Amino acid sequence: MVPAASRSRTARQAAGHAAIAAALLALGCGAGAAAPHDAAVTPDAPVAVVDAAADAADGATAADAAVPPAPYPRPGYQHLSETGLYSELASLEVDPSAIPFEPTYKLWSDGATKRRWIRLPPGTKIDTSDMDHWVFPIGTKLWKEFSLNGVLLETRLVERYGTGPDDYWLGAFVWNADQTEADLAPDGQQNIAGTMHDAPAQKDCGECHRGDVGRVLGFSAIQLSAAPTGPNLQSLAAAGLLSNPPAAGGYPLGADPATAAALGYLHANCGHCHNPNGTSWPDTQMVLRSVVADTGLDTSAVYRSIVNVPLQYWRGGAITVRVAPGQPDGSAIVARMSARGNDDQMPPLATELVDSTGLDTIRQWISGLPP
Ligand code: HEC
Ligand code: HEC
Repeated sequence: MVPAASRSRTARQAAGHAAIAAALLALGCGAGAAAPHDAAVTPDAPVAVVDAAADAADGATAADAAVPPAPYPRPGYQHLSETGLYSELASLEVDPSAIPFEPTYKLWSDGATKRRWIRLPPGTKIDTSDMDHWVFPIGTKLWKEFSLNGVLLETRLVERYGTGPDDYWLGAFVWNADQTEADLAPDGQQNIAGTMHDAPAQKDCGECHRGDVGRVLGFSAIQLSAAPTGPNLQSLAAAGLLSNPPAAGGYPLGADPATAAALGYLHANCGHCHNPNGTSWPDTQMVLRSVVADTGLDTSAVYRSIVNVPLQYWRGGAITVRVAPGQPDGSAIVARMSARGNDDQMPPLATELVDSTGLDTIRQWISGLPP
């Protein structure tokens, strides 16, 4: 529901927002690709979808009145073409109902190029009653594609199919040499297309994605506050796609660019494991994932759990604290980000190369912290 205050503006804004809403809500059935379970979430007609979206942009209650999508059987995808990302696979034409999005802060993937899309079932909203933990409607799909030098390597999918806490399908599809189809790789695949890029096994997706109840890590309030392209927090709210409105100014991570860059980096690269829901908890109780209530740096959970905080589990030789203000070389976070190929490496999976730009960001931030 769009708050009353913003309704007066919606006449002017409706056109733009309706476009986003229509696109986000529309259902795209890939060419011959509709899996049987898609029937459960198929709308009556595309026209109705667009109308509902326009209503939503005007703050009307079309989406409120919609019947929530029903659970459907766990998908049995074997090929990417079954998931509905493409309207035409031969020409790699992405279905217009799959909306490209870009998180503000990105996960380092050894320099691979990534594209991401989301598709919400028509007439639904994202449950944002807990602004830090969005829960997506049943039938929501998100994809992430990895490529290197123009060669498609793998495309991953997260799809919610039921009401249960584990009713999420996650898997990676590895592209064939002809770039005409991508096949599910349940056990992952090493060194795809002769590169050093690996697709994780299905069982390993949760190592990171369990870090949030809704399994989605990059389409969130903090990540969309300053999204460089695609939908952002305010456009989603204006289009009526969030159950609870976000703060007007979004949720910037820190007052200055150096702080925002550092906290954002830790949020996107480390926070999914290092938070109370994450897989490093409770043995290592270190918070690297910011929450929307973190408005002041010194009072934030991240700052309080790292700056001048002694190491809990790891033994780092001369290094005894997670972050030593003014001393990057005395900080465990820097040491572990600099490690690869051994037990000290952080993140412990999905990367083989040090992210030198990310490391610089963290080093500079720590250098500037007052002792
Ligand atoms: C090392 C941690 C990690 C692993 C392992 C991992 N992911 Fe992710 N994934 C992330 C993070 C962090 C993001 C958001 C930031 C970004 O996209 O740059 C993300 C984003 C995504 C997205 C876009 C939607 C979203 O959550 O923002 C999809 C789809 C996705 N991952 C699927 C998968 C699948 C499927 C697997 C297993 C085959 C997997 N991921 C394994 C960390 C991981
Ligand atoms: C896939 C999950 C995962 C990700 C992602 C991850 N970590 Fe960790 N981290 C762990 C686990 C598990 C431990 C505890 C075991 C250990 O010390 O190796 C740990 C421990 C640590 C410790 C030691 C803390 C202490 O007090 O003993 C530091 C420092 C650390 N991680 C930093 C990072 C940084 C920085 C990032 C991001 C660049 C990151 N981690 C990403 C899982 C993860």
